[in-house]
Amino acid sequence: MKVLNMGSLNLDYVYQVDHILTGGETLASDGMEVFPGGKGLNQSIALAKAGVRVYHAGLIGEEGQILTDICSENGVDTRYIRQISGKSGHTIIQVDRQAQNCILLYGGSNRAFTREYMDEVLAEFEAGDVLLLQNEINLVDYAVEKGWEKGMKVVLNPSPMDEKLDTVDMKKISLFLLNEVEGAQIAGTEDPDRILEQMAEKYPDAEVVLTLGSRGSVYQGRGQRVRQNACRVQAVDTTAAGDTFTGYFIAGMLKGMEVPRILDMASRASALAVSRKGAAPSIPRMEEVLAARL
Ligand code: RIB
Repeated sequence: MKVLNMGSLNLDYVYQVDHILTGGETLASDGMEVFPGGKGLNQSIALAKAGVRVYHAGLIGEEGQILTDICSENGVDTRYIRQISGKSGHTIIQVDRQAQNCILLYGGSNRAFTREYMDEVLAEFEAGDVLLLQNEINLVDYAVEKGWEKGMKVVLNPSPMDEKLDTVDMKKISLFLLNEVEGAQIAGTEDPDRILEQMAEKYPDAEVVLTLGSRGSVYQGRGQRVRQNACRVQAVDTTAAGDTFTGYFIAGMLKGMEVPRILDMASRASALAVSRKGAAPSIPRMEEVLAARL
């Protein structure tokens, strides 16, 4: 069984600010750093650091070689990553004194996927393999369709949530990993229990993991609902916390662990990521997660 992540690779330009800018305001930042990121890249690195062999398919632009290099250095298989002309995806991220962030996303090369490229990569995978997707690339609907047709287990982190997901046939998703905002948008309610009920009604065969920030996370599937508290840490930068959780959750499932243990492991990994700066560099290795006293 192989794991394919078709996803974004971004350069994150991270600015430390006193507070998140409001419309019309100009504010000097207290510092700026560039980190590798992108929901796709972060989730591949989280999977690799959790001990899973993951193949990443994605597109980088002229200045994006560093993104492929970071993936390779962290144990991600990069044979399907292609370089194209034009700019890589990038973000401008503000992180305030309370470690909250806001992200402006430029799609760049992440939005240049073609059906041909997806078909070529998917031809290397088979029934039973896992296909992981987020919503920072184009043609997510096509990838879901083709992965499902092949009998792959399609896992969707519908982030960032927008109208492009309206064309995705969600009935073909085996596992959703979503936060409460995305849950509310899919299910039409903000109450976590109602979100899970709605998800079960709409997608009875799918497993669902709903993350609730400082209120923890809930798993629903296989006839059970399992709740997990969040670990308390001093937050430095919440970027990639959700991606870390996603990678570690999938890793736990692939290792055949029990759901309560998986949620505990993913929460610890994500708490460690929150206590460090940056996206990909903040993702802990499995040894750190196991050793952490949280
Ligand atoms: O989930 C965090 C990621 O979202 C960042 O690394 C940034 O690139 C944005 O895509």
